Formats: sequence, structure tokens, C-alpha cells
Amino acid sequence: MTAGSATRELFGTKIGFLLAAAGSAVGLGNMWRFPYQVSEGGGAALVVVYIGLMLVIGIPLMLAEFAIGRRGQRAPAGSLRKLGGPAWGRLGYLFVLVGFAILSYYSVIAGWTVRYGIEAVQHGFASSAADHFTEVASGLDAVAYHVAFMAATIAIVIGGVKGGIERASLVLMPLLFILVIGLAAWASSLPGAAAGYAVYLMPEVEELLNPSVWRAAAGQVFFSLSLGMGGMLTFASYLRRDQNLPESATAVSFTDFGVAFFAGLLVFPVIYSFGLQGAVSGSTIGALFIAVPSAFESMGAGGRIVGLFFFLVLALGAITSTISLLEVVTASVMDEFGWSRRKAALLTGTAITLVGIVPAMDLDALGLIDKIAGEMLLLVGGLALALFAGWRIPAGIRDELLAGASPFWQRQVPRILFVMRYVMPPLVAVLAFFSVRETVAAVVAFFSG
Ligand code: PHE
Repeated sequence: MTAGSATRELFGTKIGFLLAAAGSAVGLGNMWRFPYQVSEGGGAALVVVYIGLMLVIGIPLMLAEFAIGRRGQRAPAGSLRKLGGPAWGRLGYLFVLVGFAILSYYSVIAGWTVRYGIEAVQHGFASSAADHFTEVASGLDAVAYHVAFMAATIAIVIGGVKGGIERASLVLMPLLFILVIGLAAWASSLPGAAAGYAVYLMPEVEELLNPSVWRAAAGQVFFSLSLGMGGMLTFASYLRRDQNLPESATAVSFTDFGVAFFAGLLVFPVIYSFGLQGAVSGSTIGALFIAVPSAFESMGAGGRIVGLFFFLVLALGAITSTISLLEVVTASVMDEFGWSRRKAALLTGTAITLVGIVPAMDLDALGLIDKIAGEMLLLVGGLALALFAGWRIPAGIRDELLAGASPFWQRQVPRILFVMRYVMPPLVAVLAFFSVRETVAAVVAFFSG
């Protein structure tokens, strides 16, 4: 039924694992969701709260996923069952569902980025950016780009852990880093960039005490670091015991934050330099896709080049995230049913593609699935994982954190375990509670029109 550890696929190199995990984390969450959350939720205050929550929840939870995955050597359901018994194993089924749901709409947004990139080359950006976004984000065109993006994702996942995921990450991630830094440097030369930096970098003290800023920051930590649905767990199940887990989780989290931060250094100057504040705050999901292209459009030919790079960064970030989402579903089916990788990736990928037609046709449905799966279920799943790691198998986690860690990190393990037991679970519980309450209200509002 389940493949033995001896035949389990493995990452080829330590840096390959790091870039694959960073690839999962870095994505549309950094480029599209982070700047948007910051402008909605208190500006720089959200950045500050984000860093705090990343340290006390994000990194410990990522470590919990790493430790569970490497110890269990299976996809989420198998690892949790093996380490904690059948009841915990069922949590793994929830993760499959969440991965399935997030991928179904994430690939739709990824499809928009590809379309904008292609249009930059062909004829530049439309002068009526909002109307054009409506065209891009609805109907059969949106479906077609979504299908294409899923096809690319499936192809990489079929290539396997080393030949597909690791190889793609090794090439695509460095390219993404270079492009995003280059774009931020370009944005710093825009007239009026300073006004954008001010909103982004100067926190207002009263916003730091605003609970909704905290909730938004927590949701962003989970989404951006790919936590709470077993993605990091699954990648870690392909690790050897010589990988330094605490150092890896820290490196991945700061890399992810770094890219989000540079994305902000790019997006905020563009918005303020071109006077696009209205376009951003007025709409939700489309904010970035309306505001930024209209800036590029007004720049003429140069804007087409910058715009191409911009959407290339988005698409690169997106594909290294979609492969991790599909990998959770694929690996689970492989482990549970003993299917081949090819069969598992093809069939689950096709099913996800079909479900994705709904968010591709309907922007409101997309927003709703994002709220349910991309925020609430990640927090709920994260709470379960936090309890599992901190209270169900703390001794096993301790063992796993020590294995492969350098002396410096071994000395930190007692502190990490303390945070995992006493700080992370209660904090995530409070945040999950608020998220459930808010999401239920949103669902009720959606269906009552
Ligand atoms: N972390 C990804 C991003 O920020 C999204 C993601 C969420 C990927 C959950 C995998 C799992 O874009």
C-alpha cells in the first residue's frame, strides 16, 4: 500500500530543498496579497506585526511541519497517522482538500499574470485598465490560461521531486530574486517614490494596537509561508536527516519576507508616483492587476519592458507555489492508494483544473474560496499541527530538530520547543477563532446576496 522509505524520492541537495521550500512560500502571496494587505490594513503597522508573528508563529510552525514530515517520511495523512495514530491521520485528508481548493483558484490568478505578460510583448497594456481586467478575469479566456498554467504545473510535478520540483526551483528562484530586486531599484527612481515609501515604512502607533491588523497579519503569515496545509510537511518528507531544520525554516521565512518586502518597495512607489491610490483601495482582488498596468501603460515603450518583467516575476513565483500545492495532493494519493506519480498528478491535476473553472468564471466565488481555504482553513489546520507538535509528540519533534542541526541551532532547540508548546498553540487558537467568525459571516453574506 505505502511505499517504503527505502524507495522514497529525495531532494538531491540541501540548497535544492531550500529553494523548493522558498519557492512554495514565495508567490502571489508576496507580490499581490502582501502589498494589498498592507495598504488595506494599517500600512507599515502591518509590516511590523507581520514580522513579529512570523517569528513566534510562522517559523515554529514551519519547523513543526518540517519535523513531522521528515520523521514520518510520508505525505501528511501517512505521517500524522504513523506518528500520532489514525485519528490524527484524518487531519491529512483535510490538508488534501485545502491544497485542492487553494490550487483551484490560485492557478486562475496565475493565468492572469501570464496573459498580462504575453500582452506586454504583443501590444502593451490597455488604456482602460479596469475594463481590461474584467475581460482578463472572466469567461473562457480566463479558463484557457488557467488550464495552461495547470498543465505546466502537472508536467513539473510528474517530473518528480528531484527531476521536476528541485530542478525547476534551482533555475526559477534565483531568476525571480534578481528580477524583483532590479524592479525595486527601478521603482526607487520614480518621481514621488518617497511618498510611497512613507506609507509603507512608517508605522502609526495606534494601528499597532488594532486587532484587525493582527488578524490580517496572521492570515498573511500562514498564506505566505504556505503553512497549515501540509505543504512544508510534504517537502520535508523527502529530506535526509542531515538537513539543518531550524536553520532552513529561518532561511526560508526570511527569504519569503525579503521578497514580499521588495515587492512592497516596488508596488508602493508605483502607486504613489502615478497617483493610483484610488484604484487600489477601491477594488479588492484586482487591485494590483488594475493599478500597476495602468502605470506601465502611461510610460509607453519602457513600460512594456518593465511590465513584462513584473508579470514574469509573478508567474515565476506562482508556478513554484502551484507545484507545491499539487505535490501535497499528488503525494497523498500516491501514499494512500499506491498510484504512480504520473497517474496521481494527472488525475488529481485534471480534477483541480475542472473545479477551477468556477473561480475562473466568477470573481466573487474566487474571493470566497480564498477566504475559506486560503485563510480560515490554513489557520485551523495550523492550530491542529501546532497542538500535534507541541503536545502530542514533543519528544519526537525534539529529536528531529536536533538531528542535522549545527551546535548553535541545537542550543536554541529548548527555546524553540518552549515557544511551540506554550506560545504558538494559544496564539494560533485565538487567531483561528477570529478567522472562523469572520469567514462564517462572509459566507452568510455571500449566499444571502
Ligand atoms: N505561499 C504561497 C504564496 O505566498 C501560497 C501557498 C499557500 C502555497 C499555501 C502553498 C500552500 O503565494
